[in-house]
Amino acid sequence: MRLQGKTAIITGGGGGIGRATALLFAKEGANIVVADVNEELGEETVHLIREQNGSAFFVKTDVTDSIQVKKMIDAAISEFSALDILFNNAGIGNPEVKSTDLAESEWDRIVDINLKGVFLGIKHGVPELIKAGGGVIINTSSLLGLKGQKYVSAYNASKGGVVLLTQNAALEYGRHNIRVNAVAPGVIDTSIIDDWKNNERKWPIISSANALGRIGSPEEVATAVLFLASEEASFITGTTLSVDGGGLIF
Ligand SMILES: NC(=O)c1ccc[n+]([C@@H]2O[C@H](COP(=O)([O-])OP(=O)(O)OC[C@H]3O[C@@H](n4cnc5c(N)ncnc54)[C@H](O)[C@@H]3O)[C@@H](O)[C@H]2O)c1
Repeated sequence: MRLQGKTAIITGGGGGIGRATALLFAKEGANIVVADVNEELGEETVHLIREQNGSAFFVKTDVTDSIQVKKMIDAAISEFSALDILFNNAGIGNPEVKSTDLAESEWDRIVDINLKGVFLGIKHGVPELIKAGGGVIINTSSLLGLKGQKYVSAYNASKGGVVLLTQNAALEYGRHNIRVNAVAPGVIDTSIIDDWKNNERKWPIISSANALGRIGSPEEVATAVLFLASEEASFITGTTLSVDGGGLIF
């Protein structure tokens, strides 16, 4: 098992990519802290992990709230005695409108969850990783953090920010034996893409806009996150790994 005895926090652990990663990490022997703002979905992930004889518990967490993020980290330490892996994955999509029509409150909400949420994870998680002698952080960016697209300004900006925040943290904490990387998923089959799926005109285009001509599954992202979290990636830090079926090159 590749994560035997490790403790991993997964934010957005009730959702598609977070849940798939939580289940995979648990299978690989990790103790899992499922953090999500949605209690029902988070508890469901915990239930699924326990069904496969894994070890997990849920901490209701809004990643935009510094106090709650600190509590999430503390809960991992008090339950499992250490923190080894932090997957800052919680995120939301963007209503498709021009910047001129995007409400400031929407901008704030998207950037707060997608970018500040990652910052708060790093801010409160790194001191514990340092205490543990090192560890791994993985952040969820997006294909749209690497490539501009019309009508999703806040999402573009927040996910682009995650790429550079990842590089920044890799530089700041590399000497403490902490590796920091990001994944940049393309179109993945989770609830975040429901609006696109319901758009009969656009969906055939969106769903095949990559080299492989299909969308990805949450499990296909989870395996990439597992690689970055594992010892196999011991000399990889500061990178953003595209998991997009060739969406970036398309
Ligand atoms: N699905 C895709 O096509 C795709 C593509 C690129 C990037 N991503 C990114 O992947 C990540 C996971 O998304 P997903 O596709 O699994 O979608 P999802 O909606 O299934 O999961 C997101 C989870 O984040 C949780 N969440 C939302 N706001 C939160 C907050 N403030 N605090 C804590 N948790 C919160 C939600 O409750 C949900 O469980 C997101 O960062 C998303 O931007 C997804």
